[in-house]
Amino acid sequence: MSVSRAIGWDLTGLPRIVRGEGSYLIDATGKRYLDGSGGPAAFSIGHAHHEVNAAISAQLSQVACGYRYLFTSEPLEQLTELILRNCGEDFGHLVYCASGSEAVEGAMKVALQYWNARGQPGKCRFIARRRSYHGSTLGALSLSGFAERREPFARSLLDVSFVSAANTYRPLPDAAGDALVPLLAAELDACIQSVGPANVAAFVFEPVVGAAGGVVPAPPGYAQAMRSVCDRHGVLLIADEVMCGSGRCGTWSAMEHEGVVPDIIAVAKGLAGGYIPLGATVFRRELGEEIMRAHGSILTGHTYSGHTAACAAGLAVQRIIERDALLARVRTRGAQLQADIRAALARHAEVGDVRGRGYFIGIELVRDRATKQPFPAERGLSNAISRNAFEDGLIIFPCAGNAGDGLGDAIIIAPPYNATDAELAELVEKLERAVARTLA
Ligand SMILES: Cc1ncc(COP(=O)(O)O)c(C=O)c1O
Repeated sequence: MSVSRAIGWDLTGLPRIVRGEGSYLIDATGKRYLDGSGGPAAFSIGHAHHEVNAAISAQLSQVACGYRYLFTSEPLEQLTELILRNCGEDFGHLVYCASGSEAVEGAMKVALQYWNARGQPGKCRFIARRRSYHGSTLGALSLSGFAERREPFARSLLDVSFVSAANTYRPLPDAAGDALVPLLAAELDACIQSVGPANVAAFVFEPVVGAAGGVVPAPPGYAQAMRSVCDRHGVLLIADEVMCGSGRCGTWSAMEHEGVVPDIIAVAKGLAGGYIPLGATVFRRELGEEIMRAHGSILTGHTYSGHTAACAAGLAVQRIIERDALLARVRTRGAQLQADIRAALARHAEVGDVRGRGYFIGIELVRDRATKQPFPAERGLSNAISRNAFEDGLIIFPCAGNAGDGLGDAIIIAPPYNATDAELAELVEKLERAVARTLA
């Protein structure tokens, strides 16, 4: 049996990766690929960074992992302090894991345990949004408004209620501009009322939607409005920052930009930048204290929670981000990169929208700019652009179906925070070439 068949994805024609070098990946033929999207926005400081590799090697040469209930370690303690400091003074607890799905799963369990600890075990329902992705485990998939990925598992998913996506490019009918946020707040309010506030544990959203929307930042005032609705009904607010967090948008937590403190934050991807799988569910002091008071421990976690070498990787990545002031660079250079992409693509009438925050930029392609009508799904436009870019030595991330009903094409750009100006210029040039070649 072929390896492709055994692992369930097609390896035919894929180049063999042999090396990383900063913002580049290099295959067995020596061809270089500029990493313009960090794969799926994961590789926050590029590849094979010698300081991160040295930190991991040093840890491995001592011990790979001290099991969490038997040992503590310096990387575990220092990374925990760093994450809590970066999330802000309201946050006092976290649970480590190895992926974004687990971080979301952990967020769901922390919310449920908190309400149980408060003597309200009936608060066990979640509200999430359409056009969202929260992960592939059954709990996280239950929260995901992503029909194509849910379909084969639909009967085994949790009963989650969905409200509308918040998308200024594709607002609700008759609710563009200032009318959008009040309408979405009213919709969440009505949803909580219909499920019954006594039954709702939390509302979950991505502050900037990633793979399911093609980088869709929440409209101004949206997070505040959702926070007020949740507060009014005693519902927790969970921010899924797996893709948009850990500095990707130019603030360590994406919610910092909104000026709103959520109750729980899920982080992963950029935390250890892909050097070793690492994620975390970070939550407010008050939630953790209530749980500890009632149950004595946080009842979620895994064998490898707080894996020593993974924490050493995360710590090394995060220290480089701090030392080299990379978040400030992402903020300022990100605005410029977005402007450069907009200018480079301006001549293509099919580019409907260029949007995003920091080094998290989405480009939406439409058949008609005025009506925003998407291309037919059969055309596979975003995948074709991504394939052409890859052939030309540029990695970008295609999103299809972001406009609903299986339609829509978008491209995600998410370079390493430490990419040089020359690399960002190459990114823009190759991106334009791939778009032009595909549309021609
Ligand atoms: C917002 C968001 N949440 C959760 C996940 C799941 O993360 P993972 O694939 O690491 O399990 C993803 C993955 O793309 C994501 O974008």
